[in-house]
Amino acid sequence: MKRVRKAVFPVAGLGTRFLPATKAVPKEMLTVVDRPVIQYVVDEAKEAGIEHFIFVTGRNKTVIEDHFDVQFELYNTLAQRGKDDQLEKLQRLQPTPGQTSYTRQQVPLGLGHAVWCARDLVGNEPFALLLPDMIMQSEKGCMKDMVELYENTGGNVVAVQECDPAEAHKYGIVGKGEPIHNGFRITEMVEKPKPGTAPSNLYINGRYILQPEIFGILEQQERGAGNEIQLTDAMLKLTEEQPFYGYHFHGQTFDCGSPEGFVEANVAFALWRPDMHAKLAGTIESLLREARPAGR
Ligand code: G1P
Repeated sequence: MKRVRKAVFPVAGLGTRFLPATKAVPKEMLTVVDRPVIQYVVDEAKEAGIEHFIFVTGRNKTVIEDHFDVQFELYNTLAQRGKDDQLEKLQRLQPTPGQTSYTRQQVPLGLGHAVWCARDLVGNEPFALLLPDMIMQSEKGCMKDMVELYENTGGNVVAVQECDPAEAHKYGIVGKGEPIHNGFRITEMVEKPKPGTAPSNLYINGRYILQPEIFGILEQQERGAGNEIQLTDAMLKLTEEQPFYGYHFHGQTFDCGSPEGFVEANVAFALWRPDMHAKLAGTIESLLREARPAGR
C-alpha cells in the first residue's frame, strides 16, 4: 500500500459568503487568534505525516505563497532585536525548500475541478485533501486519525460528522454501512440532497484521502449541484471500483468561510490558549450579562 505523502489544498474560492472582508484579502488568510486559517489546515496535514503541500490557488491569492515563504527582512530584524522566540515560531511553521507546490484553477468550475487541477502535481499516488474553510479542534488531528484508518483499510477515506438534518442540503451526505476498524463502510454519497432525501445525517466535513483514479473520473465528470463539477459525484463513481470508508470525527469543526463559523473558531481557539483563557472567559461572561437582545 502506498503511503499518503501529499496533500491538496483548494484555495481558489472567492469567499463571497464573507464580503467585504474578502474583497482584497483571501478568506484563507483571515486570522483565527494569531494564525491565518490556512496555517491551521496545513498544520493538521503536517501532524498527519504529510510531506508535500499542493495549493490550488487563483487570482488575488499570491499572499498565501508569501505566507509560506521565507521573509528575510523580517527574520533579520527579529534576530537583531533579540526576538528569538518569535523567530523560532516563524521558522517552525515554515515549510522546507521544495515542500510546497502551487497551481491555479483558472476558472471557478467547482471543487471537483479544483482537485483535478492538481492531478500532475499529485501523480499516481494516494493523497490527502483538506478544504481550508473547515478548521478543526481536537486533541489529535482529524487527518492523523484518517491516515491511521487508511493504513488499516486502504481504499479511500472520507471524514464525516453529524449535522442537523435540516442542514443536510448544504453538504455532501454519506450512507453508513458496516463498521471497520475505527470507521465504517460508506454505502452511498449524495451532494446537497434535496430536503428529506438524505441517506443519513452524516455530512462530509472537508477531509478526504483519495486514490489517484479519481482524476480520470473528474476529467469526464459532468456538472452537478450548483452547476459545478462536484467531487462527491466523482467519488460516487469511484465507489463502483474501489471501497470508501467513513471516519467519524468527534471534535469541533468550524466553517471559517462564513462569518458565524469564523467568530466561533476565534472564540474556541482563544479559549483553548492557556495565556488567554481566563481573561477571555471573564469578558465573554460579562458581555453575555450586558448583551443587547438580538435584532436591537
Ligand atoms: C464542499 C463539498 C461537500 C462538503 C462541504 C464541507 O461543499 O462539496 O461535500 O460537505 O464542502 O464544507 P461546498 O462547501 O464547497 O459547497
